[in-house]
Amino acid sequence: MEIVVSGIRPTGRLHLGNYFGAVANFVRLQEQYRCYFFIADYHSLTTHPHPADLHGTVRQVLAEYLACGVDPKRCVLYRQSDVPETAELYLFLNMLAYVGELERSASFKEKVRSQPDNVNAGLLTYPVLMTADIIIHRAHKVPVGKDQTQHLEMARNFAERFNRLYGEDFFPLPQALGTGGTLVKVPGLDGSGKMGKSEGEGNAVFLSDTEEEIRRKVMRAVTDSGPTTPNQPMSEPVQNLFALMKLVSPPETVSHYEEAYRACTIRYGDMKKQLAADMAAFTAPIRERIAYYLNNDSLLRDILEQGQEQARASASATVAEVRRLIGFRKF
Ligand code: TRP
Repeated sequence: MEIVVSGIRPTGRLHLGNYFGAVANFVRLQEQYRCYFFIADYHSLTTHPHPADLHGTVRQVLAEYLACGVDPKRCVLYRQSDVPETAELYLFLNMLAYVGELERSASFKEKVRSQPDNVNAGLLTYPVLMTADIIIHRAHKVPVGKDQTQHLEMARNFAERFNRLYGEDFFPLPQALGTGGTLVKVPGLDGSGKMGKSEGEGNAVFLSDTEEEIRRKVMRAVTDSGPTTPNQPMSEPVQNLFALMKLVSPPETVSHYEEAYRACTIRYGDMKKQLAADMAAFTAPIRERIAYYLNNDSLLRDILEQGQEQARASASATVAEVRRLIGFRKF
């Protein structure tokens, strides 16, 4: 069976856009591939998180992925720092990565611009660590967004370079795994763009938001002054409200408001109230499961222990072979 690897950045809480996007994709992939999903906590050290924050965000993201249906019985779900073999492979790969090519990476250049006072070597070698993450399980496929295309290309280069240097096709060259356009686009509440695209408070509805928080955000969503002629084309903010409604409300509710829009009798306030209620109902069971995991540290510990065991079995087999190929051999 083909092997899939993907990393989860432990930043912030999941919003509905993530739920219908990357997370739904993981849930699908775990049925079709041998998946290794890990929380990328080594990577997150490039921004020097406070130890308590690091622990807290890892815990939150773990609880949320579990609550969304990423199932440790169907995939290997682990924490990157629980598999130190990754760090060893990273060391080996660093000897093959050229400073020049790392400096040319778009994400590195972006970091140099955005955080000039913390251009650490970990940022420079971020793509090398990401390569280690992927090839440590000799993965074939990596489900990542467009923003990671260049990183994945670098991973292929490093894997290929290793193979060439040591004269064996040991690592498969990892390919991007697209979603074939199956992912629904989830707009934000601020009138334009995808949920989570802008940082604005109130743009995103988080899975862990309370009913009251959801209501407050939805009621403040951008709309327009309302249709005045029948079949008037919809503005983007209103299209977005309908798109969100299609995700969480029954079809009858959607057609009711579509009808009202066409008849120019729609009251956005009513529509938003309905949308907020349906969103809150949609997220309620997820919210409950998040709370369940967050209140059950011993369960989280068991899950990570099991993930660690499975991930290390795969990782240590790879690293043993890598050591042998490099020439670290027994006398
Ligand atoms: N770089 C990825 C991101 O920013 C996270 C990540 C780290 C990753 N290691 C990975 C993704 C390995 C896929 C495979 O989202």
